[in-house]
Amino acid sequence: MEKTFDKIVAHAKKTGFVFQGSEIYGGLSNTWDFGPYGVLLKDNIKRAWQKKFIQEDPNNVEIQAAILMNPKVWEASGHLKGFSDPLMDCKNCKTRHRADHLIEEFSHGEESGEGWTNEQMETYIKENNIACPDCGSHDFTPIRQFNLMFKTFMGTLEDSKSTVYLRPETAQGMFVDFKNVQRAYRKKVPFGIGQIGKSFRNEITPGNFIFRTREFEQMEMEFFCKPGEDDEWFTYWRQFCMDWILKLGGNKENLRFRDHTQEELSFYSKATTDIEYKFPWGWGELWGIANRTDYDLTQHQNTSGKDMTYQDPNTNEKYIPYVVEPAVGVERLFFMFFTDAYDEETLENGETRVIMHFNPILAPVKAAILPLNKDYNDLAEEIRKDFSQYFETVKDLSGSIGKRYRRQDEVGTPFCITIDEQSIIDQTYTIRDRDTMQQERLTLEEIKKKIIEAIKF
Ligand code: GAP
Repeated sequence: MEKTFDKIVAHAKKTGFVFQGSEIYGGLSNTWDFGPYGVLLKDNIKRAWQKKFIQEDPNNVEIQAAILMNPKVWEASGHLKGFSDPLMDCKNCKTRHRADHLIEEFSHGEESGEGWTNEQMETYIKENNIACPDCGSHDFTPIRQFNLMFKTFMGTLEDSKSTVYLRPETAQGMFVDFKNVQRAYRKKVPFGIGQIGKSFRNEITPGNFIFRTREFEQMEMEFFCKPGEDDEWFTYWRQFCMDWILKLGGNKENLRFRDHTQEELSFYSKATTDIEYKFPWGWGELWGIANRTDYDLTQHQNTSGKDMTYQDPNTNEKYIPYVVEPAVGVERLFFMFFTDAYDEETLENGETRVIMHFNPILAPVKAAILPLNKDYNDLAEEIRKDFSQYFETVKDLSGSIGKRYRRQDEVGTPFCITIDEQSIIDQTYTIRDRDTMQQERLTLEEIKKKIIEAIKF
């Protein structure tokens, strides 16, 4: 069974995981709304990240920084000057393209164009006779750099003094708050500060559904360590991220590490690895793990005039910590888990049944209560009420039991509980496993325990 892009997107829309943004007004290009199942899946991904990256790690803590930050932050971080994409216009059909994306697509991912000069990219495009993907013409304008930050104004005046930017990454919040957190929580290096939140980038070529959007959520951690220990921590976090995905049911065959070449590295980075996923159109970046050195803290120290050094309480040694940063987009993880979970089965009558094999930890709904007879509705509601104190539970009364199972399979509910005649006699209920379709009879307490065990992470 081929998991085509169209199938995955159609299923996400049909089942109400994702809707087109502002749909009744004809939409707003590349904006997406997450429906109730979509929100549950996103929340489960975020909670799983919080659990392993923050809660269970004795060194790490989490913050929520403001989205609007003092513009000096973006001057210090280099975003005002350097956060831009190489843009080319097709002179024939007037469409806009990212030069590096044209190169990446043409070379099937063998060349990324990252770290190349404008001249190098223009030469590559000319020499390889790369055509406009929209009209096939070969007549592009020279490359211009286009800053990706969204600008707005704070207060009533709309001038350069009141210009603020929507943050293009959550990371700077952690750098700016480094000293506040370190002092207030008496943190000793090494330690990490994480954050989950929205970021905004005026992407030139958004697309591929929720893969590249202008508004997205990031989960980033800045792990502050002693210079000299950074390589070890980089290796540690790189593997930690991959293990996290695998523990949540990511398919190993669709995942790989890709180390950036020296040429590709951002100017502040000593080493970067992307965890890539084989999306329906090919390999793409899922998670970036970077050794950002002391670049950001040094920049903020120089621009703000505030001391960003750390003093080791045992040795009194003073230094600016190095930073290892695992940074991932929630929507990309969503897309990955959604695609991996998707499966089709041909039924005896020739119809196709879609099953979402989500790991129970990520499944939006954990249990569906399905009474076989209307007389059991009150009991079903009582069970739903009880179970939903512990995990997401729904009750479904409409249609044949076969239809109801299918509805739950389509959204990946791992357990369906039926109430039948015997339930009234001996207080046992059938619990059906989504993947094996095996059923067993258990008491409510046993069922609850089984589900709680299955969603432990
Ligand atoms: N602080 C470093 C940073 O932001 P990045 O590689 O630009 O690094 C990190 O972004 C992650 O954020 C990416 O690996 C990707 O998962 C996600 N991401 C970046 N741009 C995105 C976009 N336009 N739409 C959706 N996700 C995006």
